Parts: sequence; structure tokens; C-alpha cells
Amino acid sequence: MSRVKISDGVIKDEVLVLGLASTTTKGGLAIESGDMVIDTKKMITQLLDMGATGKADEVIKVPGSLVRLMVFTGLGPKSSTYSHETLRRAAGSAARELHGNTSVTFSLPARKTVEIAAVAEGAALGAYNFTDFKGTTKSNHKDPIKNITIFSKLSNNAQGKVAVSRAEIIAQYASLARDLINMPPSYLTPDRFSKKISEEVKSAGGAKSGLKVQIWDEKALKSQGFGGIVGVGQGSANPPRLLHVSYTPSTKASKRYAFIGKGITFDTGGLALKPAAGMEAMKSDMSGAAAVCAAVLAIAKLKLPVAIEMWAPLAENMPSDTAVRPSDIISIFGGKTVEVLNPDAEGRLVLADALVKAQSTKNKLDGIVDVATLTGAQVVALGTRTSAVMTNNQEFSKAFLECASISGEQFWPMPLPEELRASLDSQVADLANIGDRMGGMLVAGLFLKEFVAPETPWLHLDIAGPAFNEGKAHGYTPVGGTGVAFRTLVTLAEQG
Ligand code: BES
Ligand code: MN
Ligand code: ZN
Repeated sequence: MSRVKISDGVIKDEVLVLGLASTTTKGGLAIESGDMVIDTKKMITQLLDMGATGKADEVIKVPGSLVRLMVFTGLGPKSSTYSHETLRRAAGSAARELHGNTSVTFSLPARKTVEIAAVAEGAALGAYNFTDFKGTTKSNHKDPIKNITIFSKLSNNAQGKVAVSRAEIIAQYASLARDLINMPPSYLTPDRFSKKISEEVKSAGGAKSGLKVQIWDEKALKSQGFGGIVGVGQGSANPPRLLHVSYTPSTKASKRYAFIGKGITFDTGGLALKPAAGMEAMKSDMSGAAAVCAAVLAIAKLKLPVAIEMWAPLAENMPSDTAVRPSDIISIFGGKTVEVLNPDAEGRLVLADALVKAQSTKNKLDGIVDVATLTGAQVVALGTRTSAVMTNNQEFSKAFLECASISGEQFWPMPLPEELRASLDSQVADLANIGDRMGGMLVAGLFLKEFVAPETPWLHLDIAGPAFNEGKAHGYTPVGGTGVAFRTLVTLAEQG
């Protein structure tokens, strides 16, 4: 975990990160050092000699004279102002290349507090490194930067200070989400997941901070009629859980949201067993739960005046003699019955229980957001870096997409076409758990919609692709768990 501060003092740190942009003059470069005044002429000549281009994700390290190490991070084409996301990514790319350094100062072209916030956030997010399970090779792996300093004239400005302390909290809980996703499933069972979050609630201040935890074990789930969670979890030796964390602000809440996250700690496909190739990525099938847990904790830590009801249905989807069979009929909380035609369409079953439960509390909700690695079809449609938003309320969706443009997380609206709904009809139950294969992401969304009161604004976020980075690290995004959706949920709460 990195500490983040803001300063305009003399650089004491041994590593200095500056921005590098390409200029319109052929092959030209510009050093973008923000509030730091630097004689750049000689450095530019040297950088050109080295073949630097200033494009995004290019990070160049050179021995320094002012400092031990000078680091140039690509911003792309030179501009009078850089987008928040450009700054966030440039800071993140540099931080990723600087594991093992104790103290690093970032002086990028950020003058407004929102720009400073972006650099601070990008640097702190990029510093993440998951080495918890390295054994004999652990010493080959370097720790994240301990102290991040944002160089800025706004060091004595209250907003500047708020921006860096917010970045620290965001990075802390993004790391929590990423850690949960990266942990092996034998270690992070549904029970362990719920215990870990209980511990996190305690360290975030517990009841004093307005946080409360409730956990349903397999017995309670069964006796209270959570047939989706029980059905999906019944094939596993690691029994399911339902985890609830509520946050009540100390001042009057402007809004009350329910956040629901899919928490399949491992998805083998159950009796519809997935092929071996690529199955390992299904340890990330609890990324939605990780994101909503991180969000409620961060929102409490930031003391935002918004009430949050977080629900994480947790189960392991395993094939065994006790697993749910294709053609079994289960009863979702509240009584709707579902014919399980495909045990690999398990996410919607656990989410259905949680959606109904979330709406059964006496407090009126201003909105429900569910977050899930729900369908392979999402990845086919939008790729690995853009998540989908489906809704029963266009206004809520618009507001959320606005939040996403602030956070820098990529989301795109997708429809819930009424004509696909009939494909979910069952001969024997109220509903089947699979429908048309074509438009599979939308069919899954339509299934969930059946469990939401039409008058309650609801968003369904399918993060199947972006939740887990199986490619190369880029910007502030590491390989493995990304924590996607977490920051946009916090932004939604910040918008009040
Ligand atoms: N967890 C998967 C979806 C998934 C796929 C997430 C790839 C991340 C990457 C989900 O439970 C699943 O298996 N969905 C099935 C649904 C189908 C059986 C209707 C799918 O998408 O193939
Ligand atoms: Mn599945
Ligand atoms: Zn799944």
C-alpha cells in the first residue's frame, strides 16, 4: 500500500517522474513537468538519441543528476491540457515500472485539482503488485512504491490535500478487490471471503464508521429459501454464503443504493463442465462481489453522505454427486421457480436471490446496481476493456455512464430487447436459466430483470471481459484482477 502526499518543496525523493509528449514537428518531443521548472533542452536531445517517442505506455528511465533516477512517461501528442484518463494512465505506467523504489515524486502536467487527483490515483493504482503467494522466488519480486509524492503548487490547498488522500483510499480498496480476485479459489472460499470482508469492515472502523455486516451460512440460506445460492453451491465441499454490508452515513443520506456483486469463488461450469483450457481464469468469477465490497468500504472511508446496501452472494460452482442437475428446478428467494437447463449459467441464479432480498428491506432504494462476470457473450461483444451496462431506467444509466467517464472505466450501454424474453420460458417452471444463445449477454440481463420491480431504477453491469486481464499490463491496469467497476461505483456515490 502506497502513501500519497502532495508537495511543492525541494525534491528529496530519489526518483522523479515527468511526462513526455510527442510534438507535431517530425519526431519531436516535449517534456511536460507541470509545476516543476526544469531546463529540458539537453534532456530532449538525449531522449531523441535513445529513440523515445512519448507515446502512451512508453516509460523511459535515465540516470539523473538532480535525482538518482529520471523517469519519462508517455502522454501521447502534446496538448495544452491532457484528459484525466491520459494523466491517470501515464502515472500508472510509470508506477508499474518502479516497484522496489521507496519514494517517487510525480510531476506531470496537472494544474487543476481534478488533474492532480488523476495523477495521484493513477500512480497509486499502478503501484499495485500481487506477490502474496510467491514462495522461494518472493525475493525476486519487488514491493510497490511506499511513498508517492505529487509535485504541485497546490500543496497547501485544501482541495489538493483531499485529492491525494482520496487517491490513497481508492488505491487501498482497489488493491483489496484485486487481491481477492487474484487469490486462488482453494484459499478464497465463500466462507473465507465473507470473513475477510468482516475483518476489513472492522479495520475501516466498523459500527463507528456506520458499517454493519451480516452473513448467512448454508443452513440459514436453506431455511430462508435462497434456492439460487443453495442450488449453485450444493455441489461444493465449500458451502455458500450470503454476505451483506450496510453503510449508513452519520449525516442524512442523499441517496440509498443497493450494490450487488456476483461472488462465484470458482466457476467450473458445474455438471456443464467447462473445457480445461482457460478454466483457471474462472477464479475471477467473484470480481463483481470484490468490486461492490471494495466500493462500500471506500464509500464509508470517504464518509460520503449516501447509504449503501451491499450484497454478495458467494458460492463455488462444482460438479459432483450433489451438484444441481440440468432439469432440476430451484426456487429463488421470494418464490419464483427456475428450471436449471445449464448449470454453467449460475451467476444469474445467485444474483436473482440477492436482487429479491435487496428489495425486501423496508428502506426505499433510489437504485440497484448489480455487477457480474456474467457472460462470455459480453467479451465477444465488447472485448476485454469495455464493460456493458443494461438497465430498466435510461436516466439512471445515463448518470452512471457520466460517472464512468469521470472514473476512466470504459462502459457501454446495451439493450434489453423484449423479443428475447420469451426464449427464457420454461415448460415446467416459471423461468429457464438459459434462452437464445445469440445475444447471450442481453438474455442474461433479461433474466435478471425478471427479479427487479419495474419502478426501481436498476443497472446490470456485465464485466466478464474487463474484470481479469489475461493480456499485458497497461496504464494503471495490472495483469490479473483489475477491480473494474469499483471506481465508477464510488464516483456514483460521490455524485450524491
Ligand atoms: N462466469 C461465466 C462467464 C464468463 C465467461 C466470465 C468468460 C468471464 C469470462 C458464466 O458463469 C458462464 O459460464 N456463462 C455462460 C452462460 C451460458 C451457459 C448461457 C457463458 O457465457 O457461456
Ligand atoms: Mn458459469
Ligand atoms: Zn460464472
